[in-house]
Amino acid sequence: MPTKATKRSPRVKPGHREEETLRVLISHQRIRERVRHMAQEIRRDFPNEPIHLVGVLKGSVLFLADLARELGGEVSFDFISVSSYGKGMDSTGEVKMNKDLDVTIEGRSVLVVEDILDTGLTLKYLLRLFEERKPKHLRVAVLLDKVERRIADVKADYTGFVIPNEFVVGYGLDYDERYRNLPDVCIVRLGPRGKTKIEA
Ligand code: IMP
Repeated sequence: MPTKATKRSPRVKPGHREEETLRVLISHQRIRERVRHMAQEIRRDFPNEPIHLVGVLKGSVLFLADLARELGGEVSFDFISVSSYGKGMDSTGEVKMNKDLDVTIEGRSVLVVEDILDTGLTLKYLLRLFEERKPKHLRVAVLLDKVERRIADVKADYTGFVIPNEFVVGYGLDYDERYRNLPDVCIVRLGPRGKTKIEA
């Protein structure tokens, strides 16, 4: 989870970690192929047009970097940081801005790049904010979509994978700021205290 507040359970004593089991849900190979296809779809919709990517920190960073390289043509980036989570894996439902964009999006073809759509509350907040700034186009690309969890009435224009209602990490997504660097998207499950296990 990008920029989210600490997610360590209050039950865990300092120096101890709950056992976390990771299982690969989507391999890096599948991610790479899907991102390539998404980039083709996006370029088909915006041929010859400069595309301004707006990444939602921090979870979208690896996805944005790969998507940008596959897009080709004129591409620029900016980043915004918002928080929507409280402690643990539960959302508070509140969205607050931590860092705004550096440059204007007025008149630009903007593609919001998100790691995961869960309740949709973050994206709803962002779309409302960005629409007021009068971009020429405003589209959304998400790598993962947990459709079952949706509360807000929002949809992505480009979706990588629809996934089940499981907490996932890797390829930018974190649990307590860990696992962002995993190349695959993995399901993380908490168990009795112990070491992290990684299953293929
Ligand atoms: P939403 O506002 O509930 O749609 O939440 C969006 C944000 O929650 C995402 O950008 C992620 O940072 C975080 N999030 C939701 N589900 C997961 C997950 O399974 N793993 C890591 N972060 C998640």
